[in-house]
Amino acid sequence: MPKLKKKFVKSVKKPEAKKSKPASASSEPKAKTYALVRGMHDILPRDEKYWKKCFHTAEDLAAFFQFGRIETPLLEETGLFVRSLGRGTDVVDKEMYAFEDKDGSRVCLRPEATASIARAFINSGMWNAPQPVKLWYWGPMFRHDRPQAGRYRQFFQAGFEVLGMADPAADAEIILVAFNFYKDLGIPVEISINSIGSLAERDRYKEELVNYYRSKRGYLCAECKARLNRNPLRLLDCKEKDCQPVKAEAPKMIDWLGPESSAHFTKVLEYLDELGIPYNLCHTLVRGLDYYNNTVFEVYPALTPALNTEGKTDEPVVGQQGALGGGGRYDGLIEQMGGRATPGLGMALGIDRSILAWKQHNEANKLVVAGNKFDIYFAQLGEDSKRVGLRLLDSWRLAGLKVGFNFGKNSLKSQMEIANNLKVPFVIILGQKEVQDQTVIIRDMESGVQEVVDQKKAEATIKKKLEKI
Ligand code: HAM
Repeated sequence: MPKLKKKFVKSVKKPEAKKSKPASASSEPKAKTYALVRGMHDILPRDEKYWKKCFHTAEDLAAFFQFGRIETPLLEETGLFVRSLGRGTDVVDKEMYAFEDKDGSRVCLRPEATASIARAFINSGMWNAPQPVKLWYWGPMFRHDRPQAGRYRQFFQAGFEVLGMADPAADAEIILVAFNFYKDLGIPVEISINSIGSLAERDRYKEELVNYYRSKRGYLCAECKARLNRNPLRLLDCKEKDCQPVKAEAPKMIDWLGPESSAHFTKVLEYLDELGIPYNLCHTLVRGLDYYNNTVFEVYPALTPALNTEGKTDEPVVGQQGALGGGGRYDGLIEQMGGRATPGLGMALGIDRSILAWKQHNEANKLVVAGNKFDIYFAQLGEDSKRVGLRLLDSWRLAGLKVGFNFGKNSLKSQMEIANNLKVPFVIILGQKEVQDQTVIIRDMESGVQEVVDQKKAEATIKKKLEKI
């Protein structure tokens, strides 16, 4: 610093130090904090182990069953969903995040991905590829529904779609993938299944259903009266208590299936029997999207009885959060979207909901999902140890070792506490002396025995020790 003349220094008045109030006593307004947008939720690190496991389970199943990963944009033309899911469905009529883009086009955040897959299949000429084309995806969907436990406005799905295969074996395979996802996670589930036949069969059934419900109009809730004209199949979805006796006596879709649809459904059920997958025939299961035909199914946690004990309806009795996943055939979708006639089917698993069910199941059964597992813990003492330690850590990472560490802690005691909590078998300690000697101390956490090892040999020594346990 250059020397200043004494006189000058003297003449510089020290600015009066402002008396600062302690932060807590400050009367100044705090900066605005932001709440989550309604229906959105953060996925925090404490839940990472669940999300990671779900992703890897889906990824492993996709690899085994040979589904190729596809990513479609979150933003699509609104018309894509209006045409495929259909007007009159809740998703299209009430739940779309649709808006006008800057160029005036109508776009929306995807409420589901099957329509996007159909678009991508057509756009990229996938019908030229060997059939079936099997695709899987993982990502957020958006529905402006009324939020409640397990129902969000942004939620994740893992989806699997098979295009170009009409054989009932494909239906069984898709259900098997869904079932295995939960089996691999350790969540007991049941499948609710139904057939809604071909379009023509369904139209005849709808007529019958409407005639029946018209004759019972006086007993129906207001919503069902509206559904009668708007979307009669949704009558079978009604949860209102007063409508249940009417629903229980309603004509069943299965009685309106033609010989082809009937044979297809029988074969699917035979496959499920062979696979030992538990299922309930659910006559009221129609699914909320228009593109389905023949097989439709949903996955429910098997935590509650699958059948209504009152025997009035065969509707699954489930927790508040509803189906964990669902899907079915959509043999007309690709053609309806402007492509060549291509049979298709698929399913999507709701990941947020599945994790909730998984946690509930684990809590009830005192099960724990393992988080990150470390091979060793690294404890450093002092500035130099951090500097050398970071380099050593990085070399151990390259060597494939999983090392726990916390450079925010300086005392050996607190670092050993963390190591204890992580239940690592060995701790590597690096103090000032070890930095100078280019050594480390390896401590066996079970016996308490410590060994001084050359830094260059630490990796090999640790690996040998880990192999022995
Ligand atoms: P979906 O039944 O509408 O089917 O949704 C599948 C799963 O996504 C549901 O079973 C549920 O677990 C989850 N899900 C739906 N809405 C919400 C929400 N608001 N909050 C949390 N989770 C939710 C489809 O999306 C079809 N695209 C499935 C499919 C694929 N069909 C054929 N291929």
